[in-house]
Amino acid sequence: MSQATGQPAFGLAGVMGWPVAHSRSPKIHNHWLEKHGVPGAYVLLPVAPGALPVALPGLAALGFRGCNITIPHKVDAMALVHAVDANARRVGAINTVVVQADGSLKGFNNDGFGYIQSLLDREPGWRADAGPITVLGAGGAARAVVLALADRGAKEIRLVNRTFEKADALAKEFGAPIKALPWAERHVALADVALLVNTTSQGMHGQPPLDLALDALPLRALVSDVIYVPLETPLLAAARQRGHATVNGLGMLLHQARPAFQAWFGVLPEVTPELRRIIEATL
Ligand code: ATR
Repeated sequence: MSQATGQPAFGLAGVMGWPVAHSRSPKIHNHWLEKHGVPGAYVLLPVAPGALPVALPGLAALGFRGCNITIPHKVDAMALVHAVDANARRVGAINTVVVQADGSLKGFNNDGFGYIQSLLDREPGWRADAGPITVLGAGGAARAVVLALADRGAKEIRLVNRTFEKADALAKEFGAPIKALPWAERHVALADVALLVNTTSQGMHGQPPLDLALDALPLRALVSDVIYVPLETPLLAAARQRGHATVNGLGMLLHQARPAFQAWFGVLPEVTPELRRIIEATL
């Protein structure tokens, strides 16, 4: 036991998901454990959907510091923890659980933090209020991204989704600065935009490219995609060929892991070129 925390000196964490074998999180966290000389391990926790209500409350008894939560558990896990931080409650999903000193579980969502940091990696002077932002998609990833952009001071977020009702519901829930637009308007919704974000599944490995004409997009616009397989989606390739700065989804994945590692192991780790190379080699 560590006298300071009352926790076992060997730190355990993992990722609960189904399927989970493809997760890159063990490579990320085990790299940092080794780099920072923290004795511990980060393991895969394959938890079938019906097993979550038994598996999650078992974390503390098993001596875990916490875990990440991934598909399909991100929403259901919220009801199974004792406390949910304010940002995660607004997102409506948790991706990180921290076992508190008293053994209770607290849920967080670091996806929005990861997204913003990935933009700052590419453009250290990036500002959310530099101009209108267009976000494509209104699923779980969009909720985290849109809230983070609004919290950073975005003045206008045009939310465009294939199913308009979902974008409209999200705009009504979150309020200004979010405006929902019909899918047919996605091409013209790029006029005057400073940042374009794809949070749909289109362009992911095995999916068709996103059907989007970039003609109206100002050349100074930053173009980002939350997808990281492939690293360069057809959207990012088209944007790069037009001369835009682009940001792929790997930075979001790497950066969302940093506050989780800090909460479990007490060190805020960095996203280094070495870590990027290690994870890129697995894609
Ligand atoms: P995630 O949690 O990764 O955001 P999700 O909640 O399943 O995943 O959301 C997927 C997003 O991709 C949704 O915005 C979805 O649009 P709908 O709300 O209309 O379903 C979008 N999407 C999926 N297939 C699409 C397609 N063929 N064209 C456009 N958008 C698509």
